[in-house]
Formats: sequence, structure tokens, C-alpha cells
Amino acid sequence: MTDQSNPLPFDSFMNPSLGKYTKIYRDSIENPEKFYEDAGWVLDWYSKWETIIDRTGEPYYRWYVNGKLNISYNAVDRHANGPRRNKAAYIWVDEKGNEKIVTYRGLYRRVNALAKALLEMGVKKGDRIAIYMPMIIEEPVAMLASARIGAVFTVIFSGFGAEAIADRINDCGAKLVITADGGYRRGKFIPLKETVDKALEHTKTVESVIVVKHTGQPVSMTEGRDYWYSDVINDKEEVEPERMDSNDPLFILYTSGTTGKPKGVVHGTGGYGVWVANTMKWAFDPQETDRWWCAADIGWITGHSYIVFAPLILGLTSIIYEGSLDYPGPDQVWKIISYYEVDILYTSPTAIRSLMKYGDEYPKSHNLSSLRVLGSVGEPINPVAWEWYYEKIGNSQCPIIDTYWQTETGGFVISPVTGIGTTLLKPGSATLPLPGIDPVILKQDGGEAAPGEKGLLFLRKPWPGMMIGLNNDDKKYRTLYFGRGKDGYYTGDYAIKDKDGYYWLLGRADEVLKVSGHRIGTVEVEDALLSTGLVAEAGVFGKPHQIKGESIVSFVVLKSDSRMEPSVDAIKEKVRQKFGPLLVPDEVHIVGSLPKTRSGKIMRRIIKAVYQNDIPGDLTTLESEASVDEIKEAIDKFRNEMDGN
Ligand code: WT7
Repeated sequence: MTDQSNPLPFDSFMNPSLGKYTKIYRDSIENPEKFYEDAGWVLDWYSKWETIIDRTGEPYYRWYVNGKLNISYNAVDRHANGPRRNKAAYIWVDEKGNEKIVTYRGLYRRVNALAKALLEMGVKKGDRIAIYMPMIIEEPVAMLASARIGAVFTVIFSGFGAEAIADRINDCGAKLVITADGGYRRGKFIPLKETVDKALEHTKTVESVIVVKHTGQPVSMTEGRDYWYSDVINDKEEVEPERMDSNDPLFILYTSGTTGKPKGVVHGTGGYGVWVANTMKWAFDPQETDRWWCAADIGWITGHSYIVFAPLILGLTSIIYEGSLDYPGPDQVWKIISYYEVDILYTSPTAIRSLMKYGDEYPKSHNLSSLRVLGSVGEPINPVAWEWYYEKIGNSQCPIIDTYWQTETGGFVISPVTGIGTTLLKPGSATLPLPGIDPVILKQDGGEAAPGEKGLLFLRKPWPGMMIGLNNDDKKYRTLYFGRGKDGYYTGDYAIKDKDGYYWLLGRADEVLKVSGHRIGTVEVEDALLSTGLVAEAGVFGKPHQIKGESIVSFVVLKSDSRMEPSVDAIKEKVRQKFGPLLVPDEVHIVGSLPKTRSGKIMRRIIKAVYQNDIPGDLTTLESEASVDEIKEAIDKFRNEMDGN
């Protein structure tokens, strides 16, 4: 997939300013204190930090120690009280073309009103609140109002089902939930409030629920617990922002890992704010009058960092789009770009591949000349999709900013940085490390990989945007991410560094899948299958998919005590109801038994090998080889059925 021999073909971006990047990068590594001192002033502080970094709690790092600030002040107040007061902070659009524009002053009013309501409902500094909302302006408002009073928010992606919501609420002990009556996607109503009601049957900590009336669809309201947003806010209220410590937690975001239970990644305030704002400037070089469109969902880290915090801290104008990029027509995304004259588009390789599939006539029929820079995020982008994006969307004029990062890193760590000089691109490579980032590729034995040799990617030095911990899980924080001591932070990704020093990300090295750019643990899907009550055993793995990057394949053994044999559809539907569409396997194969070790561990590796028609390696640890034959049979049956269709 990666062509490292590609000579830097993008002449228009070959300019001598690489030298500038090289110097900034070298300074950041050789003299980080000085470098981060300057970087820190992207924010306003109530009182300045005493030291840049405190390493005494390694592998926990504390940034801008004892600095005091409020992120909502930085994102809203300082623009709302200055020349940007009437500038649009957000242009909200939906699939039907409805539009709502909120200025920085308008955002200020909304954030204050909700912050006051939260205080009156008993939310205090340090309390946790959960946000489960469609892509509407009230979603960033909820995050900022929470940050304003020092509460810690956790946004739960609106595609998750009731059980996934309850797990997250229970893990962080959320006291209040902010949601909406529902949302729309592909013209379909998504009953968010109803799903929250189901989730709250399995939680103990939630005292109140605030509901935004967005769709006007009827919902049931529980007396004494549920309140309409419009009833609890008063537009005239103002709330003094809480003076937060730089290392106070700002939010928790759950993400999948190698075990079943998602991990609560905790981000801090000062270091996180400094990192997201600076990385956005370095990578995209946004201009004052730009319209920035990050087409991710706010429920993921991409939306937290680059729809909410970075663009607002920088005082930019963002598009927030509630809907799907190819609905109602395959040209929806191009329509929005031409109508709103979007300057920068930031989206995922999956989106690019699926738009590419519709054909060139759709982008061609719209004026895309407002575009200046294009971004990609979430999974490796294959050179074919990169080139299509570059030529057909960017008219061979816009650099492709392939940003490599993770929920845990807070912001970009490897990416082209047009804002500080480097603009040499290779299609499919995320290019070079950002200032302050010190990547190294290690082989299994711990030695450094040679140029062109595949290995595991570590980041040796800490950086301000990195998570400050995992909620309630010190052990995982230490072992999963810092288990190899001096090698630093382990990303979980395979990578290659080529002879020019460019990085090529090659996918996850652990039991984590990337399906349409979404991060999903194989064990998480297995647990979801088991929790349906229909399945006794499950083995899950990923297979390459042309559009989605990967798709989820599962093999299951049914429970023998169920009176009626459940169908594949029934199993899928149960998973969808409980956890949402994300965790539903693309393929469910029912078999009589699964290959296991003598100690009873299901051998995903063997199932996958049989599935891929590879000869499974060493079978001596297997309990019985019969199950391998059964898997072969199930696969043959499945393939025959597919052929018959
Ligand atoms: C994983 C992190 C990054 C924010 C959204 C996803 C993969 C991410 C790239 C890229 C190749 C990428 C990695 C990483 N990934 N960006 N530009 N090229 N791979 O955040 O859900 O925490 O997922 O996404 O595998 O570890 P996330």
C-alpha cells in the first residue's frame, strides 16, 4: 500500500522553508523549556505557570505547573469581548439545508446561561457530567459551560446504545446528563432521549437530565429528574469562569483498547489547550477569515480538539454539520463547500474513499475553488485516495495534511506543518513529527528499526497534549502505555521510517480495529456478542475492506439452552440495540465450536488464518482440531451463499 520510493513529486510544495521547520523542530527537542514557554502564550492565564514540566510522578507528566486558567474564557470570552465579538464562531447546517449562525458574542451568552443553570442544579467543580447529543451548537455549548464551572465532561458519541452509555456513566460517576429529544442522520430520526432513559435504568449516580428540544418529536420526561433546556436557562445570566489549575482534568473520553472495557482517557486543561491550538496553527496555518470544516463528530477526539477547543481558542469560524456527507445526494459535501466557500476541509480516508466511489462528476459539478488546504485523519490513507483528494478535490493546489494522532495524544503528533515551513509531501505518509515530538520505531526485541524496516511506534518525550491519566486505572496507564520504561509512550501502531525520515503508519499492532476510522476492540465486540444472551462463545477479528479500511468478522457458538435457534440477524439486532451500530459485526458465522487452547482461550489468530485461507501455523496447543474444520465449512457455506446472491 505504501510506496516509499515515491520521489517527492509535489513540486509546488517544494520550497526552501523546510529549513525553517528543521530549525524549529531542532530547537523544540534541544531546548523544550524555551520552546514550550513561547507555545504557552497561545492562551491567556490568570496567573503564569512556575515550571513548564514536572516529571516527578513519571510516567505522569504535569505541564505549565501551577498556571491558572479557564478554557471557556480562552475559547469564548476573550473573543466575545473584543473585535471578534460579531464574528461567526459556528455556522451550523443540517441535511435539509437549515442553517444557524452563532457569533462569539452569541456563544458567550449561551455558555454563560447554561453554566449558570448547571450551578443552580447543584453541579460543582470536579463533578462529572455526561453529554449525549446530536451535532448541534448546544453540544459545544455544553462542553464549554461545563469547563467554565470546572466540571469534568464526558461526551458519549450519539451512535452508542444504552448499555455503552450506562458503562461510561458508571465508570465516571456522572451526576447530570445533557441530551436532546433526538437528532437526524440520513433523514432518519435518532431517539437520543429514549436511549438515555434506557441507560439510566442501569445507573445510580445521575440526578438530573437536561433535554434540548431539537427535533420536536415527543419524548417522555421524568418528573423531578428531566428538565427542558429552555426551562433551565436564563439568557441574562453570567458566570465568572472558575480559575482552574493547569493540571485539573477538563474531560474524559472513552476509547477502545485491547480489553473489553473502553478506557477513560483523561485530558488536562493547560497543556491540552496549548497543544491543540498550536498544532492546529502549525499543521493547517488557518487564517482569520477562513471557514474551517472538520467533518468529524464531536463525540470523538477529533471533534473535541478540532471542532471545539482549537478553532475557538484561535478565534476561527467553523462549520458544524449535522448529517452524512453523502446525504441526501452524493454531492452533499461539495454542495456545502461551494455554498459556504469553505477554505479548509478536514475529513477521514473512509469518507474520501466512499466519495471517490461515486465518481468525479459530483465534485466537478461544484465550485470548490475556495479550498486552500485539505486534511485527513483517523486511519492510514492509501496513495490512490490521497491522489484523488489532491487532484480532484484540491485541484492539485492544496496540500494534503495527513494528521496522525490518537485520543490519548490530544492533538496531532505526526503531520505536515504548512504553518511552520515543511510542505514536502509523499502520498500515504503522515510525513514528519511535530515540534516537541520524538518518535522512534522499535523492533520486538527492543532494538531500533533500520530505515524502511517495520516496527512499533513509540514517542520518547512527553508533550503537553498527552493524556494526564486513565480514569480509575493507574495500572493500565502504566503497563499499556509506558510498559517499556525509557522507550516512553507506546502508541500501539506499526510504522516505518523511510530513508528521508518520513513516517508511514501501517495500522494497529494490537487487538484494536479501525473501522471507518472508528476505534473498536475485538474483545469489546466479543463481549457485546456474549451479552446478547444468545451466544456462548465468540471470536472476532478484522478483515481489510476497500472503503472502511477494516470490517468486523465474527465466529460464534450459540447457547445450547436457547429454545429457538437465533438467526444471524437476531444476534446483530441485539448488539445494535444494546451498544449501537458501531459494534455490530459485518459478518456473523455460526459454528459448533471454536478453536481454543487447552486452557480454554479462544484462538482468534487461528480463526483468522483459516478464514484468510492461510495455513494456520502451530496447532499443537489446540484443544481439538475439529473446530478448524467447522470453521472451514462455515466459511465455504458463507462464500457459496454470497456467490448465489
Ligand atoms: C488510531 C487512533 C486521530 C484522531 C482520531 C482517531 C489511527 C489516526 C492516523 C493517520 C494512520 C492513523 C492509528 C491510531 N490513525 N490517524 N493519519 N494515519 N493511522 O483517534 O480513535 O484514538 O484512533 O487511529 O491507528 O493509533 P483514535
